[in-house]
Amino acid sequence: KMTTDNHLRHVESLPVFPSGAGNIPRLNAVILGEALASEENDYVFPSDDFSRNAHVSSPSQYLEMYKRSVEDPAGFWSEIASEFYWEKKWGDKVCSENLDVGKGAVNIEWFKGGITNICYNCLDRNVEIGNGDKVALYWEGNDLGSDDSLTYSQLLEKVCQLANYLKDVGVKKGDAVIIYLPMLMELPIAMLACARIGAIHSVVFAGFSSESLAQRIVDCKPKVVLTCNAVKRGAKVIGLKDIVDAGLAESTKNGVSVDVCLTYENQTALKRENTKWTQGRDIWWQDVVPKYPSTCDVEWVDAEDPLFLLYTSGSTGKPKGVLHTTGGYMVYTATTFKYAFDYKPSDIYWCTADCGWITGHSYVTYGPLLNGASCIVFEGAPTYPDASRCWDIVDKYKVSIFYTAPTLVRSLMREGTQHVTRYSRKSLRVLGSVGEPINPSAWRWFFNVVGDSRCPISDTWWQTETGGFMITPLPGAWAQKPGSATYPFFGVQPVIVDEKGNELEGECSGYLCVKHSWPSAFRTLFGDHERYETTYFKPFPGYYFTGDGCSRDKDGYYWLTGRVDDVINVSGHRIGTAEVESALVSHPQCAEAAVVGVEHEVKGQGIYAFVTLVEGVPYSEDLRKSLVMAVRTQIGAFATPDKIHWAPGLPKTRSGKIMRRILRKIASRQLDELGDISTLAEPAVVDQLIALADK
Ligand code: WT7
Repeated sequence: KMTTDNHLRHVESLPVFPSGAGNIPRLNAVILGEALASEENDYVFPSDDFSRNAHVSSPSQYLEMYKRSVEDPAGFWSEIASEFYWEKKWGDKVCSENLDVGKGAVNIEWFKGGITNICYNCLDRNVEIGNGDKVALYWEGNDLGSDDSLTYSQLLEKVCQLANYLKDVGVKKGDAVIIYLPMLMELPIAMLACARIGAIHSVVFAGFSSESLAQRIVDCKPKVVLTCNAVKRGAKVIGLKDIVDAGLAESTKNGVSVDVCLTYENQTALKRENTKWTQGRDIWWQDVVPKYPSTCDVEWVDAEDPLFLLYTSGSTGKPKGVLHTTGGYMVYTATTFKYAFDYKPSDIYWCTADCGWITGHSYVTYGPLLNGASCIVFEGAPTYPDASRCWDIVDKYKVSIFYTAPTLVRSLMREGTQHVTRYSRKSLRVLGSVGEPINPSAWRWFFNVVGDSRCPISDTWWQTETGGFMITPLPGAWAQKPGSATYPFFGVQPVIVDEKGNELEGECSGYLCVKHSWPSAFRTLFGDHERYETTYFKPFPGYYFTGDGCSRDKDGYYWLTGRVDDVINVSGHRIGTAEVESALVSHPQCAEAAVVGVEHEVKGQGIYAFVTLVEGVPYSEDLRKSLVMAVRTQIGAFATPDKIHWAPGLPKTRSGKIMRRILRKIASRQLDELGDISTLAEPAVVDQLIALADK
């Protein structure tokens, strides 16, 4: 049974357990050996061989490390941090924090006073310790047979050239740089070049529309925009430069103009002769960057200096600029990568995420490179030219760790096992899942078919805001339960609270919060610390509120149940219902819109939009299409509504508040579960909506 975001909203009375049991995870069944005896079917054990060779081999080894990590976080994290290069060591306080809005401004600092550089630790340090000739990035293009690679030394040279260029055009420490690139090696190169000179990168996923891009440019006012002329995705060519041109024109209208647009010529997609050009502003990457020296001194920065901004959706129409800093993020992404995937130097790692999302920041670029890993950067669509592309890539590069999203697993599952079993896949060792809860049947298919019942699955729960994994299996340490993210990572203290903020103990369900900070927690929302406090720290004072519902079973396993706020999760992409609504109402014939998430077989959730038209406008197929287009052009194709439901009236309370609870039931056709509608201003609109459901 799939989980939905409705799950928690309707839990009327949450059970309250007495407090005082502490926060050390309870791995009851696994430790007591009950697991095998009782509900064998619920548990999937790593093989003895896997466990023996794993970084963490048993529940007791985990518990010992976990206990230390929460009892002595300073000691635990300093020891790990010392494995990296610091130009100057941090001050006496490893961590200082205030998460309690009642005690003043929310503030989180890790390794303050420590001077380092994350690009140096990813590249120069790896070259120094003998990884210079090891492949850092394998690039697999959209078209079969197009590929490339860079060793650590080569990657360092490319990064230095770009860093020198950026400095030359005036980018300084603390300046923002927007990166709007597809999955070319130039994307991680651009991120690392910014980090090297202390500039703040803000990657905008290259599926966002020009308007979304403009909104982000206006918010962070970048010195430079880095992009490419076009990209091939599957059989389609997408003209990225045209989108950037429109985005730059729009932001200029809003008072923010950008002087330099460095454009990579992606020849296989579009030749430079056919690219629209603005003289003076646009510069071909290949014409200038290779002329710069291939060494570049790093800008040493404080652990608390910003590393990047990444915009994400919230419950209003305005995206939030999640700000991450350097030191804690570096230590935490490296450590989570190592343990959650049981990474060994001989592994070949592939994460299918795009660097435009947090997964691509922490687990395509920084986490793996900090560990000296060889990683695959894949430009294409995972089902092009057909549904076996992933396994073709796995065999081609001998991928041993494969990290993806449940939506891809479900879409491949539909295509049938023959696409998978045609390939050997014997290099695979560990599988990973991220982005949304993975339903047990997809979990089992991933485990049995893709991994030949041999590879543990790390179902990693985390968020843009958390920077790194928060609740995740350590694949050799304990038994997994399909669909559960299992236990907290070192240093993470999850708590489940009821509506009033009471901490629940033992078996329970409620709202997931986190007590105390962890090194890669986001430090603020760019330019809006107040929104940071209001959204994340005011709902349950003293805790970070995740926005997710969660339950904990009798063995202490955590089960994420989806968002409890107005955020929906479509194919692992986070979309605010308010953003879609504001795109719809920008259409001249749309008077009002209300968007809800509905269960979707492949995407996890689909976007279901109720729209009220301007008085006198008739609903038609053409109008439906142009409403859908409005969302695509304002946000991006990934936010395309699955259903437009014409709503002459919306169910509202007498004070005018839209009752989304009822809309969610209508959207999912749970018509016998509408609940009490007597408080509506006009109860009759409900029948009217039901009658129009399939129009
Ligand atoms: C939201 C965060 C973290 C990278 C990708 C998405 C959902 C994420 C899981 C998981 C259940 C998950 C949550 C979370 N989510 N991973 N393994 N199990 N739910 O990052 O866009 O910031 O979205 O994705 O609802 O709050 P994001």
